[in-house]
Amino acid sequence: MSIRNFNADSLTAEVLRRMESTRDPRLKEVMASFVKHLHAFVREVRPTQDEWFKGIEFLTETGHWCKDGRQEFILMSDTLGVSMLVDFINYGKAEGATESTVLGPFFVEGAPELPLGANIAKPGTPGEPLTVSGTVKDLEGKPIAGASLDIWETSGDGFYDVQQKEGTNLRARFRADDHGKFNFKCVLPVSYPVPSDGPVGRMLTATGRHPMRPGHLHTLLSAPGFDRLVTHLFVKGDKYLDSDAVFGVKDSLIVDFKKSPSGEYTAQYDFVLKPS
Ligand code: BEZ
Ligand code: FE
Repeated sequence: MSIRNFNADSLTAEVLRRMESTRDPRLKEVMASFVKHLHAFVREVRPTQDEWFKGIEFLTETGHWCKDGRQEFILMSDTLGVSMLVDFINYGKAEGATESTVLGPFFVEGAPELPLGANIAKPGTPGEPLTVSGTVKDLEGKPIAGASLDIWETSGDGFYDVQQKEGTNLRARFRADDHGKFNFKCVLPVSYPVPSDGPVGRMLTATGRHPMRPGHLHTLLSAPGFDRLVTHLFVKGDKYLDSDAVFGVKDSLIVDFKKSPSGEYTAQYDFVLKPS
């Protein structure tokens, strides 16, 4: 066949042929699959020139929205279910281990390390007071002394500190004690919208979706010899548990945040890490 007069089918084969000498075998596999699926998508959808350009403008705008404290591509990956798909593939099941969920765009490396029992909410932070406690264990139920727990959450008005630029608030790192136990104070997580003033928000509206996430507390656990665990504790009874905008809810991560007679909330959860 002529290598010039491609038609819609032979073009795909020719693009793949031109990449044959890619040295890195994984890159070759990824690129070939990407081209095949992208061409198949175009064959199926048959975009007009205008529609294709709209798609390119959408991706360009998504890039322009990325800055400190805002990662619109992560948001796109999250709201299209891709982040959870990557998580399912990579964080394999180990019977008895705590399940993982999406990291989200609001994790900040290097949060202040606080002593056990500390309150991660600055005085005056909106929200209902909450105490969280539990143990970090291995698959045999043995405590993991000194395990590290990063915690982050929104205030009671549904914003992370990095969205409000008021300095560090509602995020910290704790170390479990010699018996693997931890406890800290914070505020009761509330449901809140993922940032929806940009292109991803427009996509959600255009596809008839809401931007809400059920109330949750983010946790990232690590300890030498164990897989890093990125997860959340979700608030039992939240009305968005069945329609999380980023598909992150797992039944085993739903926790009863109990209100005590004094009006304070408490939650208890034991994390189980799997060996690396
Ligand atoms: C979050 O829970 O922080 C989050 C996750 C995905 C997208 C936006 C926010
Ligand atoms: Fe969150």
